[in-house]
Amino acid sequence: MNVLDSELVVGSLRRQGFQLAETPEEADVIFYNTCSVRQHAEDKIYSALGRLRHHKNRFPKKILGVLGCMAQKDQEIIKRRAPHVDIICGPGQLSQLPALIGAVETTGELQLALSLDRTETRHDVERSFESYDPLRDPSMRPNSFQAYVRIMIGCDKFCTYCIVPSVRGPEQSRHPLEIAAEVRQLAAEGCKEVTFLGQTVNSYRFEAKDGRTYRLSDLLALVHDTPGIERLRFITNFPKDMTDDLLVAMRDLPKVCPYLHVPAQSGCNEMLKRMKRLYTVEFYRDMLARCREIVPGVAISSDFIVGFPGETEESFEKTCDLVRTGGFKNSYIFKYSPRPGTKGYEMFEDDVPEDVKKRRNNDLLALQNAVSLQDHRRQIGHRVEVLVEGPSKNGFKQDPNGPIQLTGRTRSDHIVVFDGYPRLAGQTLNVEIDDATSFTLFGRVETCETNGDFHSGHWETPLEKIPEAAQTRILPLFDASDSSKRIGLPLV
Ligand code: 5AD
Ligand code: SF4
Repeated sequence: MNVLDSELVVGSLRRQGFQLAETPEEADVIFYNTCSVRQHAEDKIYSALGRLRHHKNRFPKKILGVLGCMAQKDQEIIKRRAPHVDIICGPGQLSQLPALIGAVETTGELQLALSLDRTETRHDVERSFESYDPLRDPSMRPNSFQAYVRIMIGCDKFCTYCIVPSVRGPEQSRHPLEIAAEVRQLAAEGCKEVTFLGQTVNSYRFEAKDGRTYRLSDLLALVHDTPGIERLRFITNFPKDMTDDLLVAMRDLPKVCPYLHVPAQSGCNEMLKRMKRLYTVEFYRDMLARCREIVPGVAISSDFIVGFPGETEESFEKTCDLVRTGGFKNSYIFKYSPRPGTKGYEMFEDDVPEDVKKRRNNDLLALQNAVSLQDHRRQIGHRVEVLVEGPSKNGFKQDPNGPIQLTGRTRSDHIVVFDGYPRLAGQTLNVEIDDATSFTLFGRVETCETNGDFHSGHWETPLEKIPEAAQTRILPLFDASDSSKRIGLPLV
Protein backbone atom coordinates (compact mmCIF):
# COMPACT_ATOMS: atom_id res chain seq x y z
CA MET A 1 0.00 0.00 0.00
CA ASN A 2 2.76 2.41 0.95
CA VAL A 3 4.78 1.70 -2.19
CA LEU A 4 1.71 2.57 -4.24
CA ASP A 5 0.97 5.68 -2.14
CA SER A 6 4.53 6.93 -2.66
CA GLU A 7 4.20 6.34 -6.39
CA LEU A 8 0.96 8.33 -6.48
CA VAL A 9 2.40 11.20 -4.43
CA VAL A 10 5.40 11.48 -6.72
CA GLY A 11 3.09 11.27 -9.76
CA SER A 12 0.88 14.10 -8.53
CA LEU A 13 3.82 16.32 -7.58
CA ARG A 14 5.50 15.75 -10.93
CA ARG A 15 2.38 17.16 -12.50
CA GLN A 16 2.99 20.29 -10.44
CA GLY A 17 6.51 20.63 -11.89
CA PHE A 18 8.48 18.89 -9.15
CA GLN A 19 11.10 16.29 -9.88
CA LEU A 20 12.85 13.71 -7.75
CA ALA A 21 16.07 14.66 -6.00
CA GLU A 22 18.77 12.12 -5.35
CA THR A 23 19.54 13.12 -1.76
CA PRO A 24 17.63 14.97 0.99
CA GLU A 25 20.32 17.67 0.83
CA GLU A 26 19.39 18.54 -2.75
CA ALA A 27 15.65 18.50 -2.15
CA ASP A 28 13.33 21.46 -1.59
CA VAL A 29 10.69 19.18 -0.13
CA ILE A 30 11.39 16.00 1.87
CA PHE A 31 8.63 13.52 2.61
CA TYR A 32 8.63 10.42 4.76
CA ASN A 33 5.83 8.03 3.92
CA THR A 34 5.33 6.14 7.15
CA CYS A 35 4.05 2.82 8.49
CA SER A 36 2.50 2.23 11.92
CA VAL A 37 2.07 -1.53 11.88
CA ARG A 38 4.99 -2.09 14.25
CA GLN A 39 6.85 0.23 16.65
CA HIS A 40 10.16 -0.38 14.89
CA ALA A 41 8.92 1.33 11.71
CA GLU A 42 7.97 4.43 13.72
CA ASP A 43 11.29 4.50 15.58
CA LYS A 44 13.13 4.60 12.26
CA ILE A 45 11.14 7.66 11.18
CA TYR A 46 11.83 9.59 14.39
CA SER A 47 15.57 8.87 14.03
CA ALA A 48 15.48 10.02 10.42
CA LEU A 49 13.58 13.18 11.36
CA GLY A 50 16.10 13.80 14.16
CA ARG A 51 18.98 13.53 11.69
CA LEU A 52 17.33 16.20 9.52
CA ARG A 53 16.81 18.70 12.34
CA HIS A 54 20.18 20.39 11.88
CA HIS A 55 19.76 20.48 8.11
CA LYS A 56 16.31 22.06 8.42
CA ASN A 57 17.73 24.71 10.82
CA ARG A 58 20.36 25.63 8.25
CA PHE A 59 17.85 25.68 5.40
CA PRO A 60 14.56 26.77 7.01
CA LYS A 61 12.82 27.15 3.62
CA LYS A 62 13.04 23.42 3.00
CA ILE A 63 9.72 21.73 3.56
CA LEU A 64 9.66 18.57 5.64
CA GLY A 65 6.58 16.35 5.70
CA VAL A 66 5.41 13.20 7.47
CA LEU A 67 2.87 11.27 5.39
CA GLY A 68 0.85 8.12 5.87
CA CYS A 69 -0.33 6.07 8.82
CA MET A 70 1.96 7.52 11.48
CA ALA A 71 0.87 11.03 10.51
CA GLN A 72 -2.78 10.01 10.87
CA LYS A 73 -2.18 8.36 14.24
CA ASP A 74 0.35 10.58 15.99
CA GLN A 75 0.02 14.20 14.93
CA GLU A 76 0.52 15.50 18.49
CA ILE A 77 3.57 13.31 19.12
CA ILE A 78 5.13 14.34 15.81
CA LYS A 79 4.58 18.02 16.66
CA ARG A 80 6.31 17.48 20.00
CA ARG A 81 9.16 15.20 18.94
CA ALA A 82 9.84 16.82 15.57
CA PRO A 83 8.72 20.47 15.73
CA HIS A 84 10.70 21.17 12.55
CA VAL A 85 8.12 19.21 10.49
CA ASP A 86 5.99 21.43 8.19
CA ILE A 87 3.38 18.97 6.90
CA ILE A 88 1.53 16.11 8.62
CA CYS A 89 -0.71 14.32 6.12
CA GLY A 90 -2.66 11.09 6.66
CA PRO A 91 -3.03 8.33 4.04
CA GLY A 92 -6.56 9.44 3.16
CA GLN A 93 -5.50 13.02 2.37
CA LEU A 94 -2.50 12.60 0.10
CA SER A 95 -4.21 14.32 -2.82
CA GLN A 96 -3.96 17.55 -0.83
CA LEU A 97 -0.17 17.59 -0.80
CA PRO A 98 0.36 20.12 -3.61
CA ALA A 99 -1.97 22.55 -1.80
CA LEU A 100 -0.29 21.88 1.55
CA ILE A 101 3.14 22.63 0.07
CA GLY A 102 1.74 25.90 -1.31
CA ALA A 103 0.28 26.79 2.09
CA VAL A 104 3.60 26.18 3.88
CA GLU A 105 5.37 28.33 1.28
CA THR A 106 2.97 31.24 1.80
CA THR A 107 2.34 31.02 5.56
CA GLY A 108 5.44 29.25 6.88
CA GLU A 109 3.11 27.41 9.28
CA LEU A 110 2.55 23.74 10.04
CA GLN A 111 -0.11 22.23 7.75
CA LEU A 112 -2.21 19.28 8.87
CA ALA A 113 -4.42 17.11 6.68
CA LEU A 114 -5.98 14.21 8.51
CA SER A 115 -9.03 12.04 8.06
CA LEU A 116 -11.65 11.71 10.80
CA ASP A 117 -11.06 9.10 13.47
CA ARG A 118 -13.49 6.21 13.70
CA THR A 119 -15.51 7.70 16.54
CA GLU A 120 -17.51 9.82 14.05
CA THR A 121 -20.40 8.45 11.96
CA ARG A 122 -19.36 5.84 9.43
CA HIS A 123 -20.52 7.92 6.50
CA ASP A 124 -18.48 10.95 7.58
CA VAL A 125 -15.39 8.86 8.32
CA GLU A 126 -15.68 7.11 4.95
CA ARG A 127 -15.91 10.41 3.13
CA SER A 128 -12.86 11.76 4.97
CA PHE A 129 -10.66 8.99 3.50
CA GLU A 130 -10.13 9.92 -0.10
CA SER A 131 -8.59 7.59 -2.62
CA TYR A 132 -6.96 9.37 -5.51
CA ASP A 133 -5.61 6.42 -7.41
CA PRO A 134 -6.28 7.50 -10.98
CA LEU A 135 -3.46 10.08 -10.78
CA ARG A 136 -0.54 7.93 -11.89
CA ASP A 137 2.81 8.59 -13.40
CA PRO A 138 3.99 5.51 -15.29
CA SER A 139 7.63 6.44 -14.87
CA MET A 140 7.34 6.12 -11.10
CA ARG A 141 6.53 2.44 -11.11
CA PRO A 142 9.48 0.19 -10.17
CA ASN A 143 9.25 -1.01 -13.76
CA SER A 144 6.97 -0.46 -16.70
CA PHE A 145 5.56 -3.98 -16.88
CA GLN A 146 4.28 -4.51 -13.32
CA ALA A 147 1.82 -2.35 -11.38
CA TYR A 148 -0.25 -2.28 -8.24
CA VAL A 149 -3.91 -1.33 -8.49
CA ARG A 150 -5.76 -0.56 -5.29
CA ILE A 151 -9.23 -2.05 -5.41
CA MET A 152 -10.28 -1.10 -1.91
CA ILE A 153 -9.13 1.02 0.99
CA GLY A 154 -9.41 0.54 4.75
CA CYS A 155 -10.31 -2.45 6.85
CA ASP A 156 -13.26 -3.41 9.08
CA LYS A 157 -11.85 -6.53 10.70
CA PHE A 158 -10.32 -4.90 13.80
CA CYS A 159 -7.90 -7.69 14.72
CA THR A 160 -6.93 -6.73 18.26
CA TYR A 161 -3.20 -6.23 17.53
CA CYS A 162 -3.67 -4.15 14.39
CA ILE A 163 -3.63 -0.39 13.90
CA VAL A 164 -4.70 -0.48 10.23
CA PRO A 165 -8.48 -0.04 10.73
CA SER A 166 -7.83 3.16 12.74
CA VAL A 167 -5.30 4.72 10.40
CA ARG A 168 -6.63 3.60 7.02
CA GLY A 169 -10.30 3.97 7.90
CA PRO A 170 -13.40 1.96 6.97
CA GLU A 171 -13.36 -0.68 4.27
CA GLN A 172 -14.50 0.83 0.95
CA SER A 173 -14.38 -0.93 -2.41
CA ARG A 174 -13.73 1.01 -5.60
CA HIS A 175 -16.10 0.96 -8.55
CA PRO A 176 -15.25 -2.04 -10.77
CA LEU A 177 -15.46 0.02 -13.96
CA GLU A 178 -12.99 2.54 -12.56
CA ILE A 179 -10.62 -0.32 -11.74
CA ALA A 180 -11.08 -1.84 -15.21
CA ALA A 181 -10.31 1.55 -16.80
CA GLU A 182 -7.12 1.83 -14.72
CA VAL A 183 -6.05 -1.65 -15.80
CA ARG A 184 -6.68 -0.76 -19.46
CA GLN A 185 -4.63 2.39 -19.05
CA LEU A 186 -1.77 0.45 -17.44
CA ALA A 187 -1.89 -2.15 -20.21
CA ALA A 188 -1.72 0.62 -22.81
CA GLU A 189 1.45 1.84 -21.08
CA GLY A 190 3.05 -1.61 -21.43
CA CYS A 191 2.03 -3.19 -18.14
CA LYS A 192 1.82 -7.01 -18.24
CA GLU A 193 1.23 -7.89 -14.61
CA VAL A 194 -1.32 -6.22 -12.36
CA THR A 195 -1.54 -6.88 -8.62
CA PHE A 196 -4.80 -5.87 -6.99
CA LEU A 197 -4.27 -4.46 -3.50
CA GLY A 198 -6.52 -4.48 -0.46
CA GLN A 199 -5.95 -5.05 3.25
CA THR A 200 -8.48 -7.87 2.90
CA VAL A 201 -8.62 -8.02 -0.88
CA ASN A 202 -10.94 -11.01 -1.01
CA SER A 203 -13.55 -9.08 0.99
CA TYR A 204 -13.96 -6.81 -2.07
CA ARG A 205 -17.63 -6.10 -2.65
CA PHE A 206 -19.20 -3.40 -4.75
CA GLU A 207 -22.95 -2.87 -4.98
CA ALA A 208 -23.60 -1.28 -8.37
CA LYS A 209 -26.54 1.06 -8.97
CA ASP A 210 -28.25 -1.62 -11.08
CA GLY A 211 -28.39 -3.84 -7.98
CA ARG A 212 -25.57 -6.12 -9.12
CA THR A 213 -22.93 -7.06 -6.57
CA TYR A 214 -19.36 -7.42 -7.78
CA ARG A 215 -17.08 -9.74 -5.81
CA LEU A 216 -13.34 -10.13 -6.39
CA SER A 217 -14.07 -13.10 -8.67
CA ASP A 218 -16.36 -10.87 -10.80
CA LEU A 219 -13.73 -8.14 -10.92
CA LEU A 220 -11.07 -10.61 -12.08
CA ALA A 221 -13.42 -11.82 -14.81
CA LEU A 222 -14.18 -8.23 -15.80
CA VAL A 223 -10.54 -7.25 -16.36
CA HIS A 224 -9.32 -10.66 -17.50
CA ASP A 225 -9.42 -10.07 -21.22
CA THR A 226 -7.68 -6.69 -21.15
CA PRO A 227 -5.27 -6.94 -24.10
CA GLY A 228 -1.63 -6.86 -23.02
CA ILE A 229 -2.25 -8.07 -19.47
CA GLU A 230 -0.65 -11.49 -18.95
CA ARG A 231 -0.87 -11.94 -15.21
CA LEU A 232 -3.36 -10.93 -12.52
CA ARG A 233 -2.54 -11.21 -8.83
CA PHE A 234 -4.17 -10.03 -5.62
CA ILE A 235 -2.94 -9.49 -2.04
CA THR A 236 -3.74 -9.83 0.92
CA ASN A 237 -6.49 -12.32 1.71
CA PHE A 238 -8.51 -12.80 4.87
CA PRO A 239 -9.01 -16.54 5.59
CA LYS A 240 -12.70 -16.23 6.45
CA ASP A 241 -13.50 -14.55 3.12
CA MET A 242 -11.85 -17.18 0.91
CA THR A 243 -14.99 -18.19 -0.95
CA ASP A 244 -15.20 -20.90 -3.59
CA ASP A 245 -16.18 -18.48 -6.38
CA LEU A 246 -12.76 -16.82 -6.00
CA LEU A 247 -10.91 -20.13 -6.07
CA VAL A 248 -12.90 -21.22 -9.12
CA ALA A 249 -11.99 -17.92 -10.82
CA MET A 250 -8.33 -18.64 -10.06
CA ARG A 251 -8.69 -22.12 -11.53
CA ASP A 252 -10.61 -21.11 -14.64
CA LEU A 253 -9.18 -17.72 -15.61
CA PRO A 254 -5.78 -18.44 -17.12
CA LYS A 255 -4.28 -15.03 -16.35
CA VAL A 256 -5.07 -15.27 -12.64
CA CYS A 257 -1.85 -16.53 -11.04
CA PRO A 258 -2.07 -19.53 -8.69
CA TYR A 259 -0.75 -17.76 -5.62
CA LEU A 260 -2.56 -16.85 -2.39
CA HIS A 261 -1.20 -14.88 0.55
CA VAL A 262 -3.55 -15.78 3.41
CA PRO A 263 -2.14 -14.80 6.82
CA ALA A 264 -2.94 -17.29 9.60
CA GLN A 265 -1.22 -15.22 12.37
CA SER A 266 -1.27 -18.14 14.83
CA GLY A 267 -1.88 -21.89 14.98
CA CYS A 268 -3.46 -21.73 18.43
CA ASN A 269 -7.21 -21.19 18.85
CA GLU A 270 -6.80 -19.32 22.10
CA MET A 271 -4.47 -16.81 20.43
CA LEU A 272 -6.71 -16.52 17.37
CA LYS A 273 -9.60 -15.71 19.68
CA ARG A 274 -7.58 -13.09 21.55
CA MET A 275 -6.49 -11.66 18.21
CA LYS A 276 -10.17 -11.61 17.12
CA ARG A 277 -9.30 -13.28 13.86
CA LEU A 278 -12.83 -14.75 13.57
CA TYR A 279 -11.71 -18.29 12.68
CA THR A 280 -10.24 -21.36 14.32
CA VAL A 281 -7.14 -23.23 13.24
CA GLU A 282 -9.41 -26.08 12.09
CA PHE A 283 -11.26 -23.64 9.81
CA TYR A 284 -7.93 -22.36 8.51
CA ARG A 285 -6.67 -25.87 7.76
CA ASP A 286 -9.92 -26.71 5.96
CA MET A 287 -9.56 -23.52 3.97
CA LEU A 288 -6.02 -24.53 2.93
CA ALA A 289 -7.35 -27.91 1.84
CA ARG A 290 -10.19 -26.27 -0.11
CA CYS A 291 -7.75 -23.93 -1.91
CA ARG A 292 -5.58 -26.89 -2.91
CA GLU A 293 -8.51 -29.02 -3.95
CA ILE A 294 -10.05 -26.37 -6.21
CA VAL A 295 -6.74 -24.93 -7.50
CA PRO A 296 -4.30 -27.86 -7.71
CA GLY A 297 -0.71 -26.67 -7.31
CA VAL A 298 -1.65 -23.29 -5.84
CA ALA A 299 1.19 -21.70 -3.85
CA ILE A 300 0.15 -20.34 -0.46
CA SER A 301 2.04 -18.02 1.87
CA SER A 302 1.21 -16.75 5.33
CA ASP A 303 2.00 -14.25 8.10
CA PHE A 304 2.54 -15.17 11.75
CA ILE A 305 2.85 -13.09 14.90
CA VAL A 306 4.92 -14.61 17.70
CA GLY A 307 4.85 -13.48 21.32
CA PHE A 308 1.27 -12.26 21.30
CA PRO A 309 0.12 -11.65 24.92
CA GLY A 310 -0.57 -14.94 26.67
CA GLU A 311 1.31 -17.04 24.09
CA THR A 312 2.72 -20.00 26.05
CA GLU A 313 5.27 -22.51 24.79
CA GLU A 314 2.32 -24.79 24.16
CA SER A 315 0.49 -22.20 22.03
CA PHE A 316 3.70 -21.48 20.16
CA GLU A 317 4.15 -25.20 19.51
CA LYS A 318 0.69 -25.23 17.87
CA THR A 319 1.84 -22.46 15.53
CA CYS A 320 4.98 -24.48 14.76
CA ASP A 321 2.73 -27.40 13.94
CA LEU A 322 0.74 -25.31 11.47
CA VAL A 323 3.95 -24.17 9.79
CA ARG A 324 5.33 -27.73 9.76
CA THR A 325 2.21 -29.13 8.08
CA GLY A 326 0.75 -26.10 6.26
CA GLY A 327 2.96 -26.42 3.17
CA PHE A 328 3.45 -22.66 2.89
CA LYS A 329 5.65 -21.40 0.09
CA ASN A 330 6.95 -18.85 2.60
CA SER A 331 5.81 -17.04 5.74
CA TYR A 332 6.43 -13.56 7.04
CA ILE A 333 7.06 -13.77 10.78
CA PHE A 334 6.73 -10.83 13.15
CA LYS A 335 7.33 -10.30 16.85
CA TYR A 336 4.23 -8.85 18.50
CA SER A 337 4.53 -5.08 18.82
CA PRO A 338 1.95 -3.46 21.13
CA ARG A 339 0.18 -0.62 19.34
CA PRO A 340 -1.49 2.10 21.39
CA GLY A 341 -4.94 2.66 19.94
CA THR A 342 -5.66 -1.04 19.41
CA LYS A 343 -7.94 -3.23 21.52
CA GLY A 344 -5.06 -5.59 22.22
CA TYR A 345 -3.03 -2.80 23.76
CA GLU A 346 -5.87 -1.96 26.14
CA MET A 347 -6.87 -5.51 26.97
CA PHE A 348 -3.65 -7.49 27.26
CA GLU A 349 -0.32 -6.98 28.93
CA ASP A 350 2.67 -7.46 26.58
CA ASP A 351 3.79 -10.35 28.77
CA VAL A 352 6.11 -12.36 26.50
CA PRO A 353 9.70 -11.21 27.16
CA GLU A 354 11.65 -9.83 24.19
CA ASP A 355 14.24 -12.64 24.28
CA VAL A 356 11.44 -15.23 24.11
CA LYS A 357 9.83 -13.40 21.18
CA LYS A 358 13.19 -13.35 19.44
CA ARG A 359 13.77 -17.06 20.00
CA ARG A 360 10.28 -17.99 18.80
CA ASN A 361 10.74 -15.77 15.77
CA ASN A 362 14.03 -17.50 14.89
CA ASP A 363 12.66 -20.99 15.55
CA LEU A 364 9.56 -20.43 13.43
CA LEU A 365 11.63 -18.92 10.65
CA ALA A 366 14.00 -21.91 10.68
CA LEU A 367 11.02 -24.24 10.47
CA GLN A 368 9.45 -22.30 7.59
CA ASN A 369 12.80 -22.22 5.78
CA ALA A 370 12.97 -26.01 5.94
CA VAL A 371 9.41 -26.24 4.56
CA SER A 372 10.21 -23.68 1.83
CA LEU A 373 13.31 -25.66 0.85
CA GLN A 374 11.22 -28.80 0.44
CA ASP A 375 8.69 -26.87 -1.66
CA HIS A 376 11.48 -25.39 -3.77
CA ARG A 377 13.28 -28.71 -4.26
CA ARG A 378 10.11 -30.17 -5.74
CA GLN A 379 10.48 -27.70 -8.60
CA ILE A 380 13.95 -28.95 -9.62
CA GLY A 381 13.79 -30.51 -13.07
CA HIS A 382 10.61 -28.61 -13.95
CA ARG A 383 10.13 -25.88 -16.49
CA VAL A 384 8.50 -22.68 -15.16
CA GLU A 385 7.26 -19.50 -16.80
CA VAL A 386 9.12 -16.46 -15.47
CA LEU A 387 8.35 -12.78 -15.89
CA VAL A 388 11.83 -11.26 -15.87
CA GLU A 389 12.08 -8.34 -13.45
CA GLY A 390 15.70 -7.33 -14.12
CA PRO A 391 19.20 -7.79 -12.71
CA SER A 392 19.43 -9.63 -9.38
CA LYS A 393 21.44 -8.05 -6.55
CA ASN A 394 24.54 -9.75 -7.96
CA GLY A 395 23.57 -8.81 -11.50
CA PHE A 396 23.89 -5.12 -10.73
CA LYS A 397 27.58 -5.68 -9.98
CA GLN A 398 28.27 -7.54 -13.24
CA ASP A 399 29.17 -6.24 -16.68
CA PRO A 400 25.86 -4.97 -18.15
CA ASN A 401 27.03 -5.76 -21.69
CA GLY A 402 27.35 -9.48 -21.09
CA PRO A 403 24.98 -12.06 -19.67
CA ILE A 404 24.39 -11.29 -16.00
CA GLN A 405 22.35 -12.75 -13.20
CA LEU A 406 18.67 -11.85 -13.65
CA THR A 407 15.71 -12.37 -11.37
CA GLY A 408 12.02 -12.88 -11.99
CA ARG A 409 8.96 -14.60 -10.60
CA THR A 410 6.99 -17.63 -11.63
CA ARG A 411 3.22 -17.50 -11.87
CA SER A 412 3.15 -19.06 -8.39
CA ASP A 413 5.29 -16.14 -7.10
CA HIS A 414 8.49 -18.15 -6.68
CA ILE A 415 11.67 -16.11 -7.11
CA VAL A 416 13.91 -17.48 -9.87
CA VAL A 417 17.51 -16.46 -10.61
CA PHE A 418 19.17 -17.26 -13.95
CA ASP A 419 21.69 -15.86 -16.43
CA GLY A 420 20.62 -13.64 -19.29
CA TYR A 421 20.90 -10.19 -20.81
CA PRO A 422 19.52 -7.14 -18.94
CA ARG A 423 17.27 -6.34 -21.92
CA LEU A 424 15.22 -9.44 -21.14
CA ALA A 425 13.52 -7.45 -18.34
CA GLY A 426 9.79 -7.44 -18.98
CA GLN A 427 9.87 -10.64 -21.05
CA THR A 428 8.08 -13.84 -20.12
CA LEU A 429 10.47 -16.77 -20.52
CA ASN A 430 10.55 -20.48 -19.86
CA VAL A 431 13.22 -21.44 -17.34
CA GLU A 432 14.40 -24.95 -16.41
CA ILE A 433 14.94 -25.17 -12.65
CA ASP A 434 18.12 -26.99 -11.65
CA ASP A 435 18.83 -25.90 -8.07
CA ALA A 436 17.08 -24.37 -5.07
CA THR A 437 17.57 -22.77 -1.66
CA SER A 438 14.88 -21.83 0.88
CA PHE A 439 14.45 -18.45 -0.80
CA THR A 440 15.36 -18.87 -4.44
CA LEU A 441 15.08 -21.21 -7.40
CA PHE A 442 18.02 -21.30 -9.81
CA GLY A 443 17.59 -22.14 -13.45
CA ARG A 444 18.55 -21.80 -17.11
CA VAL A 445 16.56 -20.00 -19.78
CA GLU A 446 15.44 -22.41 -22.46
CA THR A 447 17.58 -21.02 -25.22
CA CYS A 448 19.20 -21.45 -28.55
CA GLU A 449 22.22 -19.18 -28.94
CA THR A 450 22.18 -16.89 -31.95
CA ASN A 451 24.79 -14.17 -32.33
CA GLY A 452 25.36 -14.16 -28.60
CA ASP A 453 21.68 -13.35 -27.84
CA PHE A 454 19.48 -15.57 -25.78
CA HIS A 455 16.28 -16.57 -27.54
CA SER A 456 13.57 -18.46 -25.80
CA GLY A 457 11.72 -20.26 -28.56
CA HIS A 458 8.33 -18.62 -27.94
CA TRP A 459 9.29 -14.95 -28.07
CA GLU A 460 7.21 -12.84 -30.31
CA THR A 461 8.88 -9.49 -29.67
CA PRO A 462 12.16 -8.96 -31.50
CA LEU A 463 14.83 -7.82 -29.04
CA GLU A 464 15.18 -4.37 -30.56
CA LYS A 465 11.44 -3.71 -30.00
CA ILE A 466 11.59 -4.15 -26.22
CA PRO A 467 10.89 -0.72 -24.80
CA GLU A 468 13.87 1.05 -23.28
CA ALA A 469 12.01 1.46 -19.98
CA ALA A 470 11.51 -2.28 -19.68
CA GLN A 471 15.21 -2.89 -19.90
CA THR A 472 16.09 -1.68 -16.45
CA ARG A 473 14.34 -2.55 -13.26
CA ILE A 474 15.35 0.35 -11.09
CA LEU A 475 14.54 3.75 -12.48
CA PRO A 476 16.95 6.56 -11.64
CA LEU A 477 15.59 8.52 -8.71
CA PHE A 478 16.78 11.76 -10.18
CA ASP A 479 15.34 13.03 -13.41
CA ALA A 480 17.81 15.43 -15.01
CA SER A 481 15.21 17.38 -17.02
CA ASP A 482 14.77 21.07 -16.27
CA SER A 483 12.80 21.94 -13.19
CA SER A 484 13.20 24.34 -10.33
CA LYS A 485 11.84 22.13 -7.61
CA ARG A 486 12.80 18.74 -6.34
CA ILE A 487 11.32 16.29 -3.91
CA GLY A 488 13.17 13.68 -1.91
CA LEU A 489 11.59 10.42 -0.84
CA PRO A 490 14.37 8.90 1.24
CA LEU A 491 14.10 5.15 1.61
CA VAL A 492 13.73 4.44 5.30
N1 5AD B 1 2.70 -6.59 15.86
C1 5AD B 1 3.35 -7.47 15.07
N2 5AD B 1 2.94 -7.78 13.82
C2 5AD B 1 1.85 -7.16 13.36
N3 5AD B 1 1.21 -7.25 12.19
C3 5AD B 1 0.16 -6.40 12.21
N4 5AD B 1 0.09 -5.77 13.38
C4 5AD B 1 1.14 -6.22 14.13
C5 5AD B 1 1.61 -5.95 15.43
N5 5AD B 1 0.98 -5.09 16.24
C6 5AD B 1 1.63 -8.17 11.14
C7 5AD B 1 0.53 -9.17 10.77
C8 5AD B 1 0.06 -8.68 9.44
C9 5AD B 1 1.33 -8.07 8.87
C10 5AD B 1 1.15 -7.12 7.75
O1 5AD B 1 1.91 -7.43 9.98
O2 5AD B 1 1.11 -10.45 10.65
O3 5AD B 1 -0.45 -9.72 8.61
FE1 SF4 C 1 -5.14 -5.54 10.32
FE2 SF4 C 1 -6.73 -7.67 10.66
FE3 SF4 C 1 -7.42 -5.72 8.92
FE4 SF4 C 1 -5.37 -7.35 8.32
S1 SF4 C 1 -7.52 -7.97 8.57
S2 SF4 C 1 -5.43 -5.09 8.13
S3 SF4 C 1 -4.48 -7.71 10.35
S4 SF4 C 1 -7.25 -5.54 11.15
